[in-house]
Amino acid sequence: MFSSAGSQTENPLAFDNSMSMTSSDIQPVPSPELAEQEILQLRQQIGEHNYRYYVLDEPEIPDSEYDKLFIRLKSLESAYPQLITEDSPTRRVGATPLKAFGQVRHELAMLSLDNAFDEEDQADFNRRVKERLDTTEDIEYACEPKLDGIAVSLLYEDGRLVRAATRGDGTTGEDITHNIRTIESIPLKLMGNDWPRRLEVRGEVYMPKAGFEQLNRRASAKGEKTFVNPRNAAAGSLRQLDSRITAKRPLTIYCYGVGVVDDGVLPDTHSEILACLKKWGLRVSPELKVVKGVQACEDYYQTMAEKRQGLPYEIDGIVYKVNAIARQQALGFVARAPRWAIARKFPAQEAITTLKEVEFQVGRTGAITPVARLQPVFVGGVTVSNATLHNMDEIERLDIKIGDSVVILRAGDVIPKVNQVIHSMRPDNARDITFPDRCPVCDSELEREEAILRCSGGLFCSAQRKEAIKHFASRKAMDIDGLGDKLVEQLVDRKLIATVADLFSLTALEVSGLERMGKKSAENLINALDQSRKTTLPRFIYSLGIREVGEATAQGLAGHYRDLHKLMAASEEDLQTVDDVGPVVAGHIEKFFRQEHNREVIDALLAKGVEWESESSVVEEGGQPLAGETWVLTGTLNTMTRDEGKDILQKLGARVTGSVSAKTSALLAGDKAGSKLAKAEKLGVRVVTEDDFMQMRQAWGV
Ligand code: IVH
Repeated sequence: MFSSAGSQTENPLAFDNSMSMTSSDIQPVPSPELAEQEILQLRQQIGEHNYRYYVLDEPEIPDSEYDKLFIRLKSLESAYPQLITEDSPTRRVGATPLKAFGQVRHELAMLSLDNAFDEEDQADFNRRVKERLDTTEDIEYACEPKLDGIAVSLLYEDGRLVRAATRGDGTTGEDITHNIRTIESIPLKLMGNDWPRRLEVRGEVYMPKAGFEQLNRRASAKGEKTFVNPRNAAAGSLRQLDSRITAKRPLTIYCYGVGVVDDGVLPDTHSEILACLKKWGLRVSPELKVVKGVQACEDYYQTMAEKRQGLPYEIDGIVYKVNAIARQQALGFVARAPRWAIARKFPAQEAITTLKEVEFQVGRTGAITPVARLQPVFVGGVTVSNATLHNMDEIERLDIKIGDSVVILRAGDVIPKVNQVIHSMRPDNARDITFPDRCPVCDSELEREEAILRCSGGLFCSAQRKEAIKHFASRKAMDIDGLGDKLVEQLVDRKLIATVADLFSLTALEVSGLERMGKKSAENLINALDQSRKTTLPRFIYSLGIREVGEATAQGLAGHYRDLHKLMAASEEDLQTVDDVGPVVAGHIEKFFRQEHNREVIDALLAKGVEWESESSVVEEGGQPLAGETWVLTGTLNTMTRDEGKDILQKLGARVTGSVSAKTSALLAGDKAGSKLAKAEKLGVRVVTEDDFMQMRQAWGV
């Protein structure tokens, strides 16, 4: 549905059966004849809107309009239950769970693919194809991403989805019709009328990355088990006997071929067949491309390898298929794979290496993190020599010792992690990992909070001090241009600074003596420090690095107290009246401001000229005009930076978030606004141009 699906590329969420009706939606119930007509019309309309939304990615109407059609259909069907048919969009979710899965014998085997791991394998494949076809001409290939999901078969008879099955062992799979029906992007009835009377469509059901992350976030919030990756989550979701569970999972499909085709003809190339599937309402990959020759295949591979991280779903390679169906038939099959197709795999994101040592790092809040020092290994395009081991529990869970062989995983662009220990390869001299009993940096005592060990030294600990200063200087905090991590470390190590306030007493002369620092860059840094003195209250609060006070909480606190000293004086109880501040965060805030040292640093910062405009000025002049609104910024702005835009919006009372949803009040769109703009338009969210925004600012005097 529009309201619950989100963008098809991002997070097609579960079907929502609970849409409510308002009194203005209630329409009279017509006679049976008229009801039947209206029901057919509504189903047709809903089908077309689904098609525009899921297949074409060009929705025409907002959620609310779609919901109205749906509600009307449901109310007519409940007035005339005899008019309900299995292909009605209201009938996607079954009311009772199955007892067991049925078996489905595939009329045509569901094959797998041979793999190519490098350019050479790909060239060999191309050479074999040409030899068998006895041609010297460049071959036309259809190229598509290889999705990492679950292969399914969808059988349509007379245009209606009658059965869906998993691949199983290729010959026999499981009947998952009840679960497939809940996937809204899979049509229960095909569009048009020129489809074969019996048509088996094959494709990959997958869970988009965003939906997977949200599913796991929700599961861990409820203390439930999380899924390892989107593929497992998709598989688990399809393996449910109760389709009401599947209906809540963000699944979707890309179709990549056909199986049985009876009573009908299909075009004579693979790419045209996929175009037909799309025309009939089935989702096919928008990345499909027809190319000629092996070099063009390689180019496509490189392009997709670069695009991969940014795609909203996981892919593990590229599938190349000889495009002409006659040629596919001439090439035939070997064992379980066709001779006319190959899967070129991306380099492994997993690798085996050895754990050489474990070191302990002290973070900004004193948390001690064990870091694995590894024998350097090449994984997914980069050399990895360190990986996090998180905490004591993780070390216990992995049952890991120094000297062990370990599997390193690089999922997407996240920090590499030790995923598994190969216990069978443990050497005799493997050593236990021992946790330090004092801070490895400042020798203070350690405190234990569940699985986390923490240095009690606070800002006495130079590691915590360095991290606190790095945080203070970071872009979302005081935004001190040119004050990078290495520089902070040198400044602290050489005792040029001890607190963040000392930064503002630095001279160009002192700084120019540091490594990789010339006269010019030293002057630039002093200028940047100078400029950073002018800030905003939310940024200042955030920059203090109070535990669990992120950007949004800092903004909430600034909006609530509007004055730093009022915030500093607030009791734990009072702090909890601020949005999103619970007892734990309130405790951290109160404790932070109670510490003499922190109060001194704040006083010193203010004495050295750190300042912000009083938060009350805008309010006094006319209240916060955007209070209660949620805004998103996108694209390039010409008259201000994105961060400046964000500060202004916050000053006007808006909450600023990173992604567009149905709850977004407005999108401030600069030049070259991309997917967020498209999504806002799709969801009917108000779009404000930079010009509009300038006018609003003028009107409000900010
Ligand atoms: S074509 C005879 N196309 O990969 C050709 N398969 O290793 C059969 N897969 O079981 C498959 N994306 O689950 C094809 N664009 C794509 C694919 C794809 C993913 C999966 C499919 C198949 C497995 C074979």
